[in-house]
Order: sequence, then C-alpha cells, then structure tokens
Amino acid sequence: MGMTFDERGRPSADAALCTGCGACARICPDGVLAIEDGLPRAGTGGFMGCIACGHCACVCPTGAMRVEGRGMRADDVVGIPPADARATADALEALLLARRSVRQFTDREVDRATVDRILAMVSTAPMGIPPHEVSVLVFHGRDKVRAFAADAAVSFERAAKFFNPVTLTLMRPFLGKSGHALLRDFVRPLMQALVSEHARGRDAFTYGAPLAMLFHTSAVGDPTDCHIAATYAMLAAESLGLGSCLLGTAQAFERDKTFRAKYGIPPGNKIGLALTIGHPAVHFTRAVRRRLASVRFA
Ligand SMILES: Cc1cc2nc3c(=O)[nH]c(=O)nc-3n(C[C@H](O)[C@H](O)[C@H](O)COP(=O)(O)O)c2cc1C
Repeated sequence: MGMTFDERGRPSADAALCTGCGACARICPDGVLAIEDGLPRAGTGGFMGCIACGHCACVCPTGAMRVEGRGMRADDVVGIPPADARATADALEALLLARRSVRQFTDREVDRATVDRILAMVSTAPMGIPPHEVSVLVFHGRDKVRAFAADAAVSFERAAKFFNPVTLTLMRPFLGKSGHALLRDFVRPLMQALVSEHARGRDAFTYGAPLAMLFHTSAVGDPTDCHIAATYAMLAAESLGLGSCLLGTAQAFERDKTFRAKYGIPPGNKIGLALTIGHPAVHFTRAVRRRLASVRFA
C-alpha cells in the first residue's frame, strides 16, 4: 500500500455504541469530523481530509469509531497498554543513557521471534502522513548479513569511483563548497576505507552482525520516516538486550541500480539508514552525557 493523495480514510461510528460525545471530532487534526444528528460524520473539510491517523478511534470512550482505508484496517486499533505497563521516564532515560553503538557481536544468532518483535515495535513509529511508506529489508542470519556486506563493498567501490576528483570538480557548482568538501574529504575516503577493509577480510560495515535491516521509503514518503523507523529499531533492540549500530553508509546504495535490483528496492524508493544488530560482545560500564550543539529558548 503506497500513499495516494486522492484516497481518503473512511471513519465511521457504530450507532449502537456512539454516545455522540464529540471526542472524535475534537481530536481530528484536520477537522474532518462533525457531530450531526448525534453521530460523527466525515465531511470534506480540512487540508487533506481523513488520512486514517486513527486518532478518532483511539480516543473514542466506547469503541464506537472505526477507520478504514489508506492501508488502515478496523482491527489495527487495539487495546492500549495500561499505565503501569508503560515505560516510565526513568526507565526510558535509563535505556537511552545505557545504550551505546555496538560494533562487536557474539556468535549467537538473533531468533526469529525477536526479529519480529523489533519489527512490531518499528511499525509503531510515526510517519509524515499515514500510511507507512517505510519498507524494511531484513538480513536475518550471519550468512545473509555477510552477503549483504559483500554487495555493499561493491557498492561502496562504485560510489568511490563515481565521486572521483574530476566528477566532484564538475559537480562543485551544484554541491556548494561544504557539499563538495563533504564528498571529497569524508564520503569518498570513507567508501575507499570500507572497500579496503573488506578486501582485508574485515567487515567495517555491518561488523559481522547476525542481523541487519535496511530502511527505505517510497518516493512520496518523507525521508525522515526512515530515520525515525531505524531509531525505533535501535531502541527496540536495546530494550531486548541486543546491541546495534546505525549505518549511514547505506546511503551509498541510493544510486546503485545493481544493488537495488538484487534486493528488490523499487526504483523511486529513497534509501535511509541501515542498522546492524546482534548480541553484544562488549560490556559498557559507563555512560556518556553529551551536549547538544545548542539549545536556545526563543
Ligand atoms: C545517522 C547516523 C549514521 C551513522 N552511521 C554510522 C556508520 O555508518 N558506521 C558506524 O560505525 N556508526 C555509525 N553511526 C553511529 C555513530 O557513529 C554513533 O552513534 C556515535 O559514534 C555515537 O556513539 P553512541 O551511539 O555509542 O552514542 C551512525 C549514527 C547515526 C545517527
């Protein structure tokens, strides 16, 4: 299911359950619902109309509201976890503070149930506009990840060749000074380093992990959705006792038609981040508190 700009969600209320309280109409971000004759009716107002965000169904005190369309099904609305089952701020902050990028993994594989649980948590991630435009390519098992890393090395080599000094000089007017410097002084040397590490038998891309995920989004999806989904996966993995590392180098596949064709990434899709996951072979004893570049209250 891809995003369409013409399809609208279809909110409806079960007249037997609806009390006409209007909570659904009040919460609708686009003002699509109005109470008429005691029941919520979807009008044509708002900027986009119903995008099937599901807020009306989630706020309804009697379970009368349902929304279908735009990839949403009525049974996607599920019971909400009770307050005492949710992470407290202390628990969440502890998880965030204890997390470190992990680049050394034990030999243990990640079982399928755990992979599915991570994906279930990822699917709760917010997106620019529903439905989810994010796709996840899962490399489950060391052999799959190893093959992915080998294909990545070829892709890195292509990227390094493409961003050669002559091409970069020609592209400079379009890239600007900082874009040009980024590609010349960071991206190209990094691609070259990853290729030579791979040639030496060292996987400096996925770090020999037993699980990797590549996040990509459709042409109409917000590229940020991928980053949010990958971040959710990283935190989900952490909560399950796994270590992970985000891999921005996956961007190198963006222009690589061979790589995309092999892994079935549709031509228009934008590649976001990859995440490498496994059982950590390192044990951190200290955490880091970092400072943001700036915080200013306007
Ligand atoms: C957008 C993004 C891209 C990243 N790409 C890579 C990568 O390609 N390879 C890698 O080893 N680490 C990568 N990282 C991990 C960072 O290097 C890591 O988060 C940083 O060193 C801070 O360490 P911490 O995660 O332990 O706090 C990436 C992180 C982010 C947020």
